[in-house]
Amino acid sequence: MRERTIFALVVVSLLLIAIGYFVATRLDLSWLMPVQASSRAVIVDQLFRFMLGIATVIFLIVEGALIYAVIRFRRKAGDENDAAPVHGNNALEFVWTLIPAVIVAVISIYSYQVLTQIESPVKDRLVVEMVARQFVWEFHYPEADVSSHELHLPIDRTVIFQITSEDVVHSFWVPEFRVKKDATPGQVSELVVTPTRLGRYSVLCAELCGPFHAGMIADVVVESESEFERWLAEQAGDDEIMQVQEQPDEQTSVETEAVEESQVLAEGRALYLQFGCGACHVLADAGGIGIVGPTLDGIAEIAASRRLGVEANVYLQESILAPDAYVVEGYSAGLMPGDYGDRMSEDEVEALVEYLMNQ
Ligand code: CUA
Repeated sequence: MRERTIFALVVVSLLLIAIGYFVATRLDLSWLMPVQASSRAVIVDQLFRFMLGIATVIFLIVEGALIYAVIRFRRKAGDENDAAPVHGNNALEFVWTLIPAVIVAVISIYSYQVLTQIESPVKDRLVVEMVARQFVWEFHYPEADVSSHELHLPIDRTVIFQITSEDVVHSFWVPEFRVKKDATPGQVSELVVTPTRLGRYSVLCAELCGPFHAGMIADVVVESESEFERWLAEQAGDDEIMQVQEQPDEQTSVETEAVEESQVLAEGRALYLQFGCGACHVLADAGGIGIVGPTLDGIAEIAASRRLGVEANVYLQESILAPDAYVVEGYSAGLMPGDYGDRMSEDEVEALVEYLMNQ
């Protein structure tokens, strides 16, 4: 009988090891995981599979023992006795403390190795500064002095992100890159990634940061080095074109006024995009999709009649600088950040109001 028990335990142990090994190395997990789009994704996934293999074995032991006990020791018909009392078992306690301790130690060492590998210093890194705000990401390429709401990255080049937040804690997350890092106000966190797969992915926010947290999404475009350079030059070029337009010569005052007006509107629209207003408001002209705040389509007309005796532009300015001074019925106070007056100059607020007055 005892020999049979030992034999059964050996067979079960070998079977469990085989299953754990299969899960850790062979099992097709492509249905479960996003594609691997960075060099670190491969080693992070290996670590994940390793832990999944161990977890599978533990799950089978625990559930198997439970099912075995339920069947083997179930109450027989007519048996009214209590079970025999058990007063501890030192050998058992020792074993079930030692085994988890060993597993945790092995996973810690392995994880540490993975961490040093993915954070190993690489020369020639592309620096991208990133600012998170409710509810928008802004990326800045300091070498080219280009800012964007879309993250463009050249393939196979190591990027170092310098991440911070201007309001609450957000978390930078690109599942395909297997990266996640908190964006903390007053602090710059660094994150190193090497994209290895062309394509379009999404930056998501992985920290509950307010009512539109789930909509805090930006596009990531991984492209060839030459496409990236072209994009960067285009972005830098846009700024230059705007600067050239700022110095018109030999124009009549009417033309100058018209040019100035269109510049103000363009600036207002750029500010609307820069500050991510579309995360909370609908506006056809700038592509806003948010429903947290009132729609801004046709806002000029709406603003003119919303509050008796308050002119439209005054109303809009107040709505930007002191959003809780008047809250439109059906919407909540305390959602729109109240610090736009600190983050925008007076001219910028004016441009934004002017832009909205034309919607
Ligand atoms: Cu930002 Cu959630």
